[in-house]
Amino acid sequence: MSDSSLLNILVVGSGGREHALLQVCLQSPLAGKVIAAPGNGGMASEAECFDVPVEEIEGMVALAQAQGIGLVVIGPEVPLSLGLVDALAAVGIPAYGPNAAGAQLESSKAFCKDFFAKHNIPTAAYGNFTEIAPALDYLEEHPAPIVIKASGLAAGKGVIMAETQDEAIAAVKDMLEGDAFGSSGKEIVIEETLYGEEASIHVIASGEDFVCLPPSQDHKRAGEGDTGLNTGGMGAYTPTSRVTAAMQAEIEEKVIKPTLAGLKADGIDYRGTLYAGLMLTDQGVKVLEYNVRFGDPETQVLLPMVADDLVPVLLASATGESLPAKLQFHDGAAIVVVLAAGGYPGSYAKGNPITFPDALPASTAIVHAGTTRDPEGTIRTAGGRVLGVSGQAPTLKAAADLAYTVCDQVKFEDKFLRRDIGHRELNR
Ligand code: AMP
Ligand code: GLY
Repeated sequence: MSDSSLLNILVVGSGGREHALLQVCLQSPLAGKVIAAPGNGGMASEAECFDVPVEEIEGMVALAQAQGIGLVVIGPEVPLSLGLVDALAAVGIPAYGPNAAGAQLESSKAFCKDFFAKHNIPTAAYGNFTEIAPALDYLEEHPAPIVIKASGLAAGKGVIMAETQDEAIAAVKDMLEGDAFGSSGKEIVIEETLYGEEASIHVIASGEDFVCLPPSQDHKRAGEGDTGLNTGGMGAYTPTSRVTAAMQAEIEEKVIKPTLAGLKADGIDYRGTLYAGLMLTDQGVKVLEYNVRFGDPETQVLLPMVADDLVPVLLASATGESLPAKLQFHDGAAIVVVLAAGGYPGSYAKGNPITFPDALPASTAIVHAGTTRDPEGTIRTAGGRVLGVSGQAPTLKAAADLAYTVCDQVKFEDKFLRRDIGHRELNR
């Protein structure tokens, strides 16, 4: 863009989360040129997309330099853990997201658990292991039900909830001796099973400064009633009444503040999203895990609820400046329903053309996840999670009705969706 006061932005990633982030950037009056890499079919319809894979750190830096980018917004965890933020910082380009040291909170569950212990952050009792004998000894002292986790990145699949001692022993052996989860399973965390309701809090951090987004919940299982295989997430909604004002205050005081202070004390200037997966137990809030990026599909409901322009907030985080004390949010609720390809999270077909409704009702949106766009402009399926259909309304029920109306108007072969997104809140 010729107006040098405007900010050129590169969005890194290719899922629904990144499409939602791209739209926030495109809507900002501060934005100049907005591009994406690698992007998807929907993103390509709205912005120029460049075919650079997210793991190619040097290629991504070269793209940002060649395009005169002033802010890189990074969606997925993999480039964060590979040091994309550090590499961009080395050439003076601010990026939204933590550096590789900060990204260890997600890329190493063992690191994260030791961090919790060191900084007195409430979490499940645990042990970290790389050797089989001490891991089996720990299981003898802490019998099933127990949770076994691959420490490294495993696309949300590396958690085994062992109901019996045999399952626990098998899971430990599969990871440490076998090849379950590859190198990600060569270190494991064994931890106490926690009981309670789950909720997620996303915060945008800039060092010890932070702003919270509303509490949200996603549906990880493929089947209705939260049954079946784990997926990346089949839908999400916000807010959730499970997180009361008192709980929110407890989360901020006992979890978020000590985490950011602990990171600083450990020499990590944390910037970007901190996404806490929480269990609301009878003994108070405990952290199950941290992610170091926005949730997918949670982003598709959280970002549209923000009434303020988010670009200056993302830029302030990226440059380590102070954040606004509070963000303004729209009233009401938002929901997103994922339209997946039949077979997901197992194998599924790709390349099927998608038919969209001619016009969308007000307060609904379709965000692309696994899609491509032909040179002729046809949008085709290209992934397990194909689209996210969202609705916003004064109540969650009304938002769900809006979203499901649009879900039924989108057509592609073997379309598969859950009809009960939001049920835990709607059936309370
Ligand atoms: P994580 O990737 O660590 O968040 O784990 C994925 C899912 O496994 C969580 O959303 C919980 O449903 C479940 N989970 C993980 N750790 C525990 C635990 N210690 N107790 C009970 N459920 C857990
Ligand atoms: N929806 C879960 C995640 O993004 O990790």
